[in-house]
Amino acid sequence: MIEPSNRSTALRLIPRNIATAFICLGLMLPAFGQQPFQTLLVGVDHRTVTSLNGDWHYLVDQSPAHALYTRNGAINDKSYAMNDHPNIVGKHNEEYDFSNAPTLKVPGDWNTQVPQLFNYEGVLWYQRDFDAQPKAGTRTFLHIGAANYRSHVWVNQKRVCDHEGGYSPFDCEVTAVLHAGSNFVVIAVDAARLIDGIPSVGIDWFNYSGITRDVSLVTVPEAFIDDYDIHLAHGLRFEPGNTELTGYVHVLDAPAGTSVTVDIPEAGAKATVKTNAEGNAPFSVKATKLILWSPESPKLYKVSLASGDDKLTDDIGFRDIRVDGTRILLNGKAIFLQGANMHAEAPIRGGRANTDQDVATIFSYLKDLNANFVRLCHYPHDERMTRTADRDGIMVWSEIPNWQGISFDKPEVYAKDVVMLNEMIRRDRNKASVILWSVSNETPNNPTRTKFLINLANEARRLDSTRPITSALNSAHIEGSTATLNDPFADALDVIGINEYIGWYSGAPEDADTMQWTLPQKPILMSEFGAEAKYGNHGATDQRWTEEQQVYVLQHQLAMLNKIPQVRGTIPWILMDFRSPTRNIPKLQDGYNRKGLISEDGKKKQAFELFQKVYKEHSVGKAE
Ligand code: GCU
Repeated sequence: MIEPSNRSTALRLIPRNIATAFICLGLMLPAFGQQPFQTLLVGVDHRTVTSLNGDWHYLVDQSPAHALYTRNGAINDKSYAMNDHPNIVGKHNEEYDFSNAPTLKVPGDWNTQVPQLFNYEGVLWYQRDFDAQPKAGTRTFLHIGAANYRSHVWVNQKRVCDHEGGYSPFDCEVTAVLHAGSNFVVIAVDAARLIDGIPSVGIDWFNYSGITRDVSLVTVPEAFIDDYDIHLAHGLRFEPGNTELTGYVHVLDAPAGTSVTVDIPEAGAKATVKTNAEGNAPFSVKATKLILWSPESPKLYKVSLASGDDKLTDDIGFRDIRVDGTRILLNGKAIFLQGANMHAEAPIRGGRANTDQDVATIFSYLKDLNANFVRLCHYPHDERMTRTADRDGIMVWSEIPNWQGISFDKPEVYAKDVVMLNEMIRRDRNKASVILWSVSNETPNNPTRTKFLINLANEARRLDSTRPITSALNSAHIEGSTATLNDPFADALDVIGINEYIGWYSGAPEDADTMQWTLPQKPILMSEFGAEAKYGNHGATDQRWTEEQQVYVLQHQLAMLNKIPQVRGTIPWILMDFRSPTRNIPKLQDGYNRKGLISEDGKKKQAFELFQKVYKEHSVGKAE
């Protein structure tokens, strides 16, 4: 264990348990001059940045990946990171050369770009040159929207950061290594699935690999705003007419007493406060007029933050979300969530969803479905998704990928989880559309898991006390026509998600008609239910894999759910068919999970029309 004292500079802004996590993960970097600093900058998509998206050279480093890993498994800083060139003539030196190597688009998974890489889950190196003109008194960060799964980043041969986790952004300080003119960045991404990974090895979705989201250079003043929380004050109960806005602005490396301004002209709210010794400037201010965010009126306000030379304007909505008994209250009003699950897969073109067009298409489907809610599963999606949800008035369930079995008995895995939870909440805490944080999906009901997840749920509450915490449980015990949830983890949740597949994985569709559910007196979301059907495959309602049978299963499901008083939302699995390596029935699945209401190429199945009608008429479920 490395003594934190001599590393405190780099880590002071990371909560102690995260700092410990980084150290545990051995992610500390070789020292070179200024300690490399790694963080997550909030609101990057509202800053002026230099995009590094585009064509990047790549080299495959097949297992055992000796360009990346030394024989004892350490990171090799002296190989491809040097971006050297072979002496084709003369003394033998290197046997790699990015400059003549093929290219991949960034952002983009490598699997759907190069046929030979379709099933490749190993190490791949990216390289590109870029120009920079560092200015005195400024700092520059390399922002990576996401890279699956483990990433190691070098700029001008110096390692600037390492990251584990395929679905969250990270920002690496490059100030000390940049020079005027041409620079280069080299990123090694290892997509291998790990037993102690999050998620672990067995997943029911395609492990799209590589740099899957935007990359950019972000230049800021020496002291700058790296994190902020601006929300409607969240008291013990919802106060109609409450217009108090509160939170904090964190200014990195600002001396105590530094002035910070929060200005929301349209709401008639302006606060000027000072930073404390930790760089935090808590504030509270009454808005003179405030329209609360809701699906009916997804009002966003221009929120301008300023401190010293740094300025940033974000688009933020204000709303109150809470639980009251078995009800979910939005701005004091009971709501019913009419939703669907969605993987981050691009409709029609396939691959990881990461463009404005991908997101626009997905949200057009949700609109057509008359949905007011989407569960982004099973990991944080591209920030475009939550930004669009904010604008379109679609409420969001956001989740970290504790999917089924992970190493719940390992403290180092818990440390990784805390990092991922922090990243998810830090990036999207100011998104009004995000109403639920989920810490897991379908995990085994045993004491080790329960202790692990209860701690994680409490960590989420510590990070954000303004949103209910949930998880999707498949631990309901179904026997004959009784279904009982006896899971101690449910006690730690504010809202309980239940996954069940009566009529598909177990029993007959009609079993749902007589199913008696015994559930806690909390809001219940049916977070997964459904059946598979290949688009265009037609037949009788008892013929599995047909659109008719899918509708038949869902009709019985909806009738069952309509009778459960605590059910406050229906979230069918899943909006769109998606790739999964475990789905290999030729001519029916062909590598796709076919429980979608829409096929992967955008064709609406009969089941889509079923939900479109049910959601239009609000004919299933009650808000209270
Ligand atoms: C599970 C799981 C999903 C999976 C689905 C299915 O409930 O949470 O990730 O894809 O079932 O089996 O189709």
